[in-house]
This record gives sequence, structure tokens and C-alpha cells, in this order.
Amino acid sequence: KIIVLDFGSQYNQLITRRIRDFGIYSELLPHDLSIDKIKQMQPKGIIFSGGPNSVYDDGALKVDPEIFKLGIPILGICYGMQLMSYDLGGKVEKADNSEYGRADIEVTDPNAVLFSDLPKEQYVWMSHGDLVTKAPAGFKVTAKSKNCPISAIANDEKKFYGIQFHAEVRNSEYGLDILKNFAFKVCGAKANWTMNDFIDMQVDEIRQKVGEKKVILGLSGGVDSSVTATLLHKAIGDQLTAIFVDHGMLRKDEGDQVMQALNKDLGVNIIRVNAQERFLNKLKGVTDPEQKRKIIGKEFIEVFNEEAKKLKDVDFLAQGTLYTDVIESGTNTAQTIKSHHNVGGLPKDMHFELIEPLRKLFKDEVRVLGEKLGIPHDLVWRQPFPGPGLGIRVLGEVTEDKLKIVRESDAILRDEIKKAGLQEDVWQYFTVLPGIRSVGVMGDGRTYDYTIGIRAVTSIDGMTADFAKLPWDVLSKISTRIVDECDHINRVVYDITSKPPSTIEWE
Ligand code: XMP
Repeated sequence: KIIVLDFGSQYNQLITRRIRDFGIYSELLPHDLSIDKIKQMQPKGIIFSGGPNSVYDDGALKVDPEIFKLGIPILGICYGMQLMSYDLGGKVEKADNSEYGRADIEVTDPNAVLFSDLPKEQYVWMSHGDLVTKAPAGFKVTAKSKNCPISAIANDEKKFYGIQFHAEVRNSEYGLDILKNFAFKVCGAKANWTMNDFIDMQVDEIRQKVGEKKVILGLSGGVDSSVTATLLHKAIGDQLTAIFVDHGMLRKDEGDQVMQALNKDLGVNIIRVNAQERFLNKLKGVTDPEQKRKIIGKEFIEVFNEEAKKLKDVDFLAQGTLYTDVIESGTNTAQTIKSHHNVGGLPKDMHFELIEPLRKLFKDEVRVLGEKLGIPHDLVWRQPFPGPGLGIRVLGEVTEDKLKIVRESDAILRDEIKKAGLQEDVWQYFTVLPGIRSVGVMGDGRTYDYTIGIRAVTSIDGMTADFAKLPWDVLSKISTRIVDECDHINRVVYDITSKPPSTIEWE
């Protein structure tokens, strides 16, 4: 394994992700991890991540200098390189020109192992205010750029290396190769780690932590909580109780599919609470989107709490928090959870210890993990779905009849997109019921009925999106089927706005 010590850069977890993609286990650990712990872990290599500090700052994050005596290869990235240089007697100064963005570097040492088999000139991603102005004794300079004469340093004897740029981001042309050179050529690591090893490791860890005690988990029907439940079940079997709060606003058959896959096929102990009526009652007369979201989130926690209280002697609460949930909320602590799963909403008299086995993973890794655990492909690769579910796709007041229309039309849309083989091309697609009525003609009669909106977008991460250019014939089929098969619909429209200025969801 190769460990990454965390100095606070927003890219730090990405480094571990890249190393894992090479088939080498990697995890992000605190920068002040004790030397004994490091020795125990026997890593093949250590990476110092970037970070926002200057090495001169009061309170700058440091390492125990003993780390340089362990005989383990070290790669310092950005702040990590500055820290290593500073600690080993080099010089670090404020740059005349901070550099943010693309820079061209030139590899100045043909024997530089980090750059072996790579072109002499390449572009990289720089993001720094300080720079190393003198390499420590025993180091040679191996790359330079216009604004950064010491862009990379190497001490082959000790196997210490530093790069001022961020090899872990895609905007560094050969960044992955540089990390590979460090991992394989310098550290001599072997590519023999797989997701199965992650499962074994997590299972051990969970068993040790939980012992004979009991764990509960709030299942929302989504991918993250489903994968967490399955992983815990593998580790501790029936010591886990999952509480599936079905708010009645999931997609067609989704709740049954989750029960079939997790409970019937995989044996996860699940209490399903059919709470549709309760949610609809709370939503009666409410039209403001934000208020609807809040009500649904709050009710979710309340239903969960009521069920949790019925269970005796539970010590742990498991959650499907992912790495992205952790960064999005901007902190590093356990309280950072999606709102509708928030522990903050649990009653004061319940004290749970948290278990969050997916914290180190990215969404696509979680999907791979889910499949390895035996959850069906279609279930783990579902498109994103908001916590408040169809409740925010019925615009205005939510009623059972309206939910039915959205659920049915959405099922038709999904069916046709699948038949056309477009699931992988479109990032997210769904129908909405705006609540407007218009005049139509069916048979020989006049109709005055509802409109369905189709939303289909392409996107990388949901932050920005473009409307999908679905083929006319596919749209035409969807439109015909929705009007034929759904009651009270006489018109179908296609949303052709991107995000921004629109959002993906209509509420
Ligand atoms: P918007 O509508 O903000 O949506 O462009 C961006 C992405 O986020 C999803 N979304 C949510 N996901 N809870 C969630 O877990 C929510 O409350 C929520 N609201 C929107 C949306 O489906 C899209 O993928």
C-alpha cells in the first residue's frame, strides 16, 4: 500500500483514488500520524499531499521529522514538496508570481525516474503561492518552468521526490504516468489490490468495531445506503437492522426492487415502513418547493427515529456517507451528512457511534463495490435521484393522483430510453408534472387536461448540464405512449434549457 498524508489540499483524496486505480491500495491519513503507526502499516511509499499553508505559517501542518529516517520512499506534491525541502534544509519563499493553472515544464534531467519514458516538454497544473528556491543537500532539480525554476526535485539515494505541480488532476498531461513511476519504479509496489480486498478489509474493520453489538441504518432506497447495508450485512449479518423509510415518492417499483435485491436475495434484515400516507398528510396544501423539501427531510428522520426507538440495545448507526459528501460540506468530521440522514435530527437520548464504511470512496467506486457485493447491475448504476423523490417533480401541492401520473410517465420515459440504448448517453432523465392544464382534442371531443414535461440532460457531475439532444423518433414514441397510457395528460413538452440558467430539477 501507499499512504497519503493529508495537508488539506482539495485534491488530496484524488491522489489516493489514482493510486487505487493502479491496483495499489491507498488511503488518506492525518498528516500527524505517529511514526509507530506508519511503521506498523509498512507502506511501500508515502505521499505528502498539497495544502493551503505556507511552511513558515504559525500553525503550518508539519510531519514528525523521524519520517525521513524510515527508509520509505516519499513523494511531496506542492505543499508536500515545500515541506520536505524546508525540513531537509532547502529554502522555500513566497513566489513573485503565484501560479494558478496550466504551466509548461521542461524536464531538465534525462535520468529523472519520475519522468522516465515521458516527453521532455509537457504541461502540468500548478496552484501555489510559495516555491522552493533552493533544493536541500543531496537533491537535484529535475524539471523547471518559466515561473518556477525548481518544479521537481529528486534524491535517488534516499528515494525522496518532490513535484510543485498537481500530478493527480487531469489537467496535468502526464500526471498519471508520473504517479505510476513513483508507485511502481520508485516504491516497487505491485498492482494486486482489488475491490474484493477493500471488502475484506472493511468487513474485518466493521467486525472489530462492532463486536457482538447491534447496528441500525436508514435505508432511503438509493445506491449509497443500499451498498452500505449490504456491506454491513456481509460483516455482521443480523446484527444489522436497516429501516427502509418508503415515503411513497420513489420511482415505479423501486421500493420493491430494493426489497427483492437486498432483503429477499441477499438476506439483509430490513424493516420497511410504508409511510406514504403520513408524508402526504404533512404535504397537504404545501406548494413552496423549499418547504416541501424540508418537510420530507424532517419526516424521514421522524419515521426513522420512531422505528429506531422500538429496537433495543443499539450502539451503532451506519450511514452511506461518501467522500464527496464529506468535501461538499467542507469539514472532516462525522457530522457531515446529507440532510435527510442527519444524525443531528436524532433524539438527544439516543447516542450512537457512527459507522461510515464508504467515506473513502467515490461514487463510481461505490457502484463497483455494490456489484461485487451482489447487488444487481441495474440497481447500482441507476441515475441520480433526489432525496425528496417525485415529491419535487409534482410541482406545487403533492397528491396521490399526481404522484401516480409522474410515476407512470417516468416509467414510460425510462423504458423507451432503455429500448433506444441511450441510458449511458443521457446523465439524468425524468418527467415532471407542472400542474398547468391546456385544451386538446381526443377522438371527437375537447379535453382540458394536464401537461407532462420531459427533462433529459447530459452532465459530468450535476453542477452544470446541457439538455440532451434526444432523437425525434424516440421523443415522438415517448410522447405518444405518455398520452395513451397516462390518465389526464393531453400534452407533452420537452425542456430545452441548460443549467445554468435552469436547474436540473424543476423544484
Ligand atoms: P439541480 O436541480 O440542483 O440538481 O440542478 C442537481 C442534481 O442534484 C439532484 N438533487 C438532489 N439530490 N437530494 C439529493 O440527494 C436533494 O434534495 C436533491 N435535489 C436535487 C438532482 O436530481 C440532480 O441530479
